[in-house]
Amino acid sequence: MDSYDFDVLKLLFLGVLVNTWMMSGASASDSFNLEPTVTWQRRLCNESRLRWEVEVCGEDFKRDMAHIDPQQWCNLTYFMSEYYVFTLCTETKSQSIDCYWPNPLVESYIILIHKHFFSNCTIEKEMWVDPPDDTLTILILIPVFLTLAMIALVVWCSKRSDLLA
Ligand SMILES: *[C@@H]1O[C@H](CO)[C@@H](O)[C@H](O)[C@H]1NC(C)=O
Ligand SMILES: *[C@@H]1O[C@H](CO)[C@@H](O)[C@H](O)[C@H]1NC(C)=O
Ligand SMILES: *[C@@H]1O[C@H](CO)[C@@H](O)[C@H](O)[C@H]1NC(C)=O
Repeated sequence: MDSYDFDVLKLLFLGVLVNTWMMSGASASDSFNLEPTVTWQRRLCNESRLRWEVEVCGEDFKRDMAHIDPQQWCNLTYFMSEYYVFTLCTETKSQSIDCYWPNPLVESYIILIHKHFFSNCTIEKEMWVDPPDDTLTILILIPVFLTLAMIALVVWCSKRSDLLA
């Protein structure tokens, strides 16, 4: 009964970071490809549809969790793959209907799911004091540095083209 919830947080945090990072990479290359087609317009995110799709993902997750002994609901080992499928589901559904991911609606739904399944998992006070393990730190820092490097590169390139122009 110690760091279960911390594990969940780590998983969610990492998932969001990695996906945000991959998405920012993807959208950057998208805009490169799409820049010449001026007439192309992004469809607007349909929120009621998004709400419905995300709930479908949630129902699938609830069904999968029902197959797991509730005593193990705090043990990440048992629901990791189900949780991953759920997160992936919200992501693909969001993108299939032209909504950004993560988005506030998906986030609040994930919090709802957490309250439902993980509310009884203990959160240790020390978890905020404990230094995260090295692997986690590295995993978190890689996308951060890559993003910073990309921003620096873009700024540098635009300054350079200003000078050249
Ligand atoms: C959003 O999706 C719902 C359900 O699919 C549909 O009924 C509605 O017309 C859509 N709204 C817009 C603005 O496309
Ligand atoms: C979670 O379950 C696995 C498999 O039964 C077990 O090896 C592991 O010790 C459990 N983790 C915790 C934190 O209890
Ligand atoms: C959490 O504990 C309360 C009280 O013991 C219980 O009613 C509830 O069903 C539990 N929730 C989960 C998700 O295990």
